[in-house]
Amino acid sequence: MDYFSYQDDALFAEDCDVAQLAKVHGTPLYIYSRATLERHWHAFNNAVAEHPHLICYAVKANSNLAVLNVLARLGSGFDIVSGGELSRVLKAGGDPQKVVFSGVGKTIAEMEQALQVGIYCFNVESSAELEQLNDVAGRLGKVAPVSLRINPDVDAGTHPYISTGLKENKFGIAMDEADTVFARAAALPHLHVKGVDCHIGSQLTELKPFLDAMDRMLALIDRLASQGIVIEHFDVGGGLGVTYNGETPPHPDAYAAALLERLGGRPLKLIFEPGRAIAANAGIFVTQVLSLKENSDKRFAIVDGAMNDLIRPSLYSAWQNIIPVQQTDAATYAYDIVGPVCETGDFLGKDRQLAVKAGDLLAVRSSGAYGFVMSSNYNSRPRVAEVMVDGDKDVVVRQRETIEQLWQGEHLLP
Ligand code: LLP
Repeated sequence: MDYFSYQDDALFAEDCDVAQLAKVHGTPLYIYSRATLERHWHAFNNAVAEHPHLICYAVKANSNLAVLNVLARLGSGFDIVSGGELSRVLKAGGDPQKVVFSGVGKTIAEMEQALQVGIYCFNVESSAELEQLNDVAGRLGKVAPVSLRINPDVDAGTHPYISTGLKENKFGIAMDEADTVFARAAALPHLHVKGVDCHIGSQLTELKPFLDAMDRMLALIDRLASQGIVIEHFDVGGGLGVTYNGETPPHPDAYAAALLERLGGRPLKLIFEPGRAIAANAGIFVTQVLSLKENSDKRFAIVDGAMNDLIRPSLYSAWQNIIPVQQTDAATYAYDIVGPVCETGDFLGKDRQLAVKAGDLLAVRSSGAYGFVMSSNYNSRPRVAEVMVDGDKDVVVRQRETIEQLWQGEHLLP
């Protein structure tokens, strides 16, 4: 459930009129709803209820400082994948002791930064990383808390680019090496083995792959216990899907209940790394129709937003709902909604039934996750503004880039 809805044919974000926001802040524009972010975070947190747990929001989904700050105020933890994300979390008031550091390629500088601020856990992805981290921690006179990311080899049944738990993927340590690598981790002097983690993919709409992964991981945890390696937490990763186009992903309640049942009486703290489930439907992307165009038998609505602003449709053929900001009774036609970027792959949606004319505003739903964060300056387009609404208030949480910012840091030859 989110807080974007029509009031008398006009789209509202909480109590703010979206057309008015577009008028004040310009387009293209990302609009986030604080109440929706909070609702989704609480849905996760309440789902695990009494069981010891930590919700570590996956910062990569939407790393705007205001988004992180809203979640930090709720007591959220954070899942990061870079030193940049760690710096953002700290800047936004996040607690380093609730940070887990994922990612297949951590640099020495990033390991040092994370050790200095005292994060909760490193999610280590290989034997080589384990040895490196032990060296870095030793040099700094610290003990690094670690979890090992194990690749459970399950098919998440999602888009191949965002499926991560098959053994041919680059992620994690193979299950048949897990016992050996854990034994090594336990023997290294500057590491403290805390947990086990996995992340099998994103936008999962079924419980089964999560449960298959869980069974394999619990079998490993039981084996390790019999070898004297005590695991304190199990980080189940992120990946719970959202509704873009009629999908019916499990509610966090059903998801958590199923995991807790599988967990049985094991006294393991559970860590969750949801990104999309918290942020996707807490954001929309608003774009204005520049003109309409017909080529042979196709109709195009050319809009001011493009693939550089929102790349999911182009990159993954992702379908996101596109709705009018002002509903009308005019006749609808099938349009491809395309941007000004010079690529055929530059579209936000294809074959969408809409009643539009030049100057109208369209909202691309479910754009709060993997939207702005994946944007670029391609075609020398300044990155767009981000606004967060909170009831009837709106705050610019990132200014629209200026033309001068396009070449910030660039230099002519002497
Ligand atoms: N944890 C790890 C280790 C991850 O790699 C990811 C996402 C997450 C958590 C959060 O997953 P979520 O709950 O958001 O599904 N750009 C793509 C999605 C890439 C996901 C990468 N990893 C998209 O727009 O669909």
